[in-house]
Amino acid sequence: MAVAALRWLGDRLELLDQRLLPGETAYVTCRSAQDVARAIRDMVVRGAPAIGCAAAFGVVLDRGGAAAYDLLAASRPTAVNLFWALERMRRAGGTETEARAIFDEDLAANLAMGAHGAALVPQGARILTHCNAGALATAGHGTALGVVRSAKDKGISVIACETRPYLQGARLTAWECAQEGIACTLVTDNMAGHLMSRGEVDLVIVGADRIAANGDAANKIGTYTLAVLARRHGLPFYVAAPLSTYDFVIADGSAIPIEERPAAEVTGYRGERWAPEGVRVRNPAFDVTPAELISALICEKGIVTGPNRERLARLAPPA
Ligand code: MRU
Repeated sequence: MAVAALRWLGDRLELLDQRLLPGETAYVTCRSAQDVARAIRDMVVRGAPAIGCAAAFGVVLDRGGAAAYDLLAASRPTAVNLFWALERMRRAGGTETEARAIFDEDLAANLAMGAHGAALVPQGARILTHCNAGALATAGHGTALGVVRSAKDKGISVIACETRPYLQGARLTAWECAQEGIACTLVTDNMAGHLMSRGEVDLVIVGADRIAANGDAANKIGTYTLAVLARRHGLPFYVAAPLSTYDFVIADGSAIPIEERPAAEVTGYRGERWAPEGVRVRNPAFDVTPAELISALICEKGIVTGPNRERLARLAPPA
């Protein structure tokens, strides 16, 4: 794999330090659940499935000790993959075998999603995406960007939204596309509507951090805006996410906890401040796109067109 966010080495977990990309490729070594929890909190590793995989190995590093679960569960609130992975680990007694299975199954799910999703992508499509839902955000291949990878032979190209304020699009998606030889044009988030109005976008595809039982999908802040714009311009809006991202317990998106991140991410970047001292700031890291704005959900089992509660119920695990 050209891009590997996590490397499990039996007694330690190495995480590609995504804070440093694209300038520097360095790995952070985790030897305890506390190390992994810190790495998730500090954004060394990010992206819903990658967070879940990292947490699973974090449990193994503490030999399945009870404290490990609480530490890891407190690291970030929105991506349900974290809690899904911890629950799986708890049920399996925190074994290395289970953590490896979580990792392997995520990679397999992404490859399956890629195959399903590629069928929705027309020849030569110009695909707009937001944040980073690629190999960096998963065990490999990616979800939204995995569909793009799987459709590469169709001569597609990517339009990567910068993704203010944390710049996952500019720093990570643009970098991943370069690694894979996928044509990519970087734009700031506020350019999306203009490009759509000029007929320069064929479809939108994004990942998700948590999908409620009715199909409402939480993803990186700015996703909802893109879904509204896509509807206005009659463009397909797809959400690609494995079943580990579905939260069938939550009836709709209003119950999804939205992480609020530090004000410093909005008032400046890496030590440089451009906003006046004392200004009030909001920094919600995610928003919720209502199911009615989603053309289709793509998961490892296939495609759910026009997602709603009834259609999603078929995906739910038996009670
Ligand atoms: O704050 P981040 O970088 O962890 O947010 C990531 C996203 O919003 C991704 O789109 C989502 O986790 C899907 S990753 C396959």
